[in-house]
Amino acid sequence: DAQQPGQLPPMGWNSWNKFHCDINEELIRETADAMVSSGLEAAGYQYVNIDDCWAEQNRTADGKLEASHTRFPSGIKALADYVHDRGLKLGIYTSAGTLTCQKTMPGGLDHEDVDAQTFADWGVDYLKYDNCNNQNRPAIERYTKMGEAIKKTGRPILYALCEWGQNQPWLWGKDAGAQVWRTTGDISDSWSSMTGILDKQVPLVGYSGPGGWNDPDMLEVGNGKMTTTEYQAHFALWALLNAPLLAGNDLRSMSDTTKKILANKDIVALDQDWAGKQGYQLRDDGDTEVWTKPMSDGSAAVVLFNRGLAAAPMSATTTELGLGKARDYRVRDLWSGAETETTGTLRASVPSHGAAVFRVWPAKFPNAAPLSTLTVQAPD
Ligand code: DGJ
Repeated sequence: DAQQPGQLPPMGWNSWNKFHCDINEELIRETADAMVSSGLEAAGYQYVNIDDCWAEQNRTADGKLEASHTRFPSGIKALADYVHDRGLKLGIYTSAGTLTCQKTMPGGLDHEDVDAQTFADWGVDYLKYDNCNNQNRPAIERYTKMGEAIKKTGRPILYALCEWGQNQPWLWGKDAGAQVWRTTGDISDSWSSMTGILDKQVPLVGYSGPGGWNDPDMLEVGNGKMTTTEYQAHFALWALLNAPLLAGNDLRSMSDTTKKILANKDIVALDQDWAGKQGYQLRDDGDTEVWTKPMSDGSAAVVLFNRGLAAAPMSATTTELGLGKARDYRVRDLWSGAETETTGTLRASVPSHGAAVFRVWPAKFPNAAPLSTLTVQAPD
């Protein structure tokens, strides 16, 4: 329903991970163009989200926020029009405090109605509401106030809480009017940051679903400090978790390798499907872990994740994946697209810091090459 954002995890881009405060209206316009020309829009990406540092330091005489005169001289409304003309949506940011985190602009605390109305008037479609400079006032109150202010505008604006999981927003985020809540602190472009955040998602299965999603933070794919194999694992696991998929790289200059990861339709499809449960850790064998997620067509998504420093032979059985007792199973390797059959055991040699990703259907696939034992190539 177009009037109800957040029925599926939002997909798009956000300026923070790559650009921090170094943003301007050309960047946003060029990013919107690149989202279309790169094929990301066709793969499902939709929101172009401006993070911190977009506004003037002071409110106008009538108490409104105003875009930076030097970096966003045409204003946010013009930018929203530009983005909408390309079939995309515009997101914006402020903080549930007196100032935003970078302190370059006012926050929304005690200005919820006027700010929500300003965003609605500009044609904004997404609000990320941060937690800095909050004067130690209760989170639920601060976030509910903005949720109500957004509702009053009558515009369907996706409301994303960025409270870093400090007050268990998965328990009250929906009541506050939000469709997305950050579960954890900020991600950075490193293996340890990405896996540390992943570990904290394990107990949160069960708090996510249509209209209210756990958000382990934005993607770092393509930002350069992890390997391609690590970015593949990051992307596959975020998709399995039904996380918002907000690219955080420079879309204007991304490599084909990065594009192939972000635009992988089979993996995006895991993120954008809901069969009652986000992906979860099925087995933790130390360095190797099996993650899975039920799909609404009766298939299962499987991620064989290897945190170790050497390649590892990994396997999972269709029984432990909850796929019943079919005679044959159709299996697709979601990195290579190769389809095969198995009678019950998936096997892959998974590279160090890598994730092999499969979708398994409890049915014979007519066109698949029959194999006695399935051995699927891990991502390179
Ligand atoms: C903290 C948030 O968690 C980040 O995602 C980003 O929005 C920064 N603040 C911006 O200052």
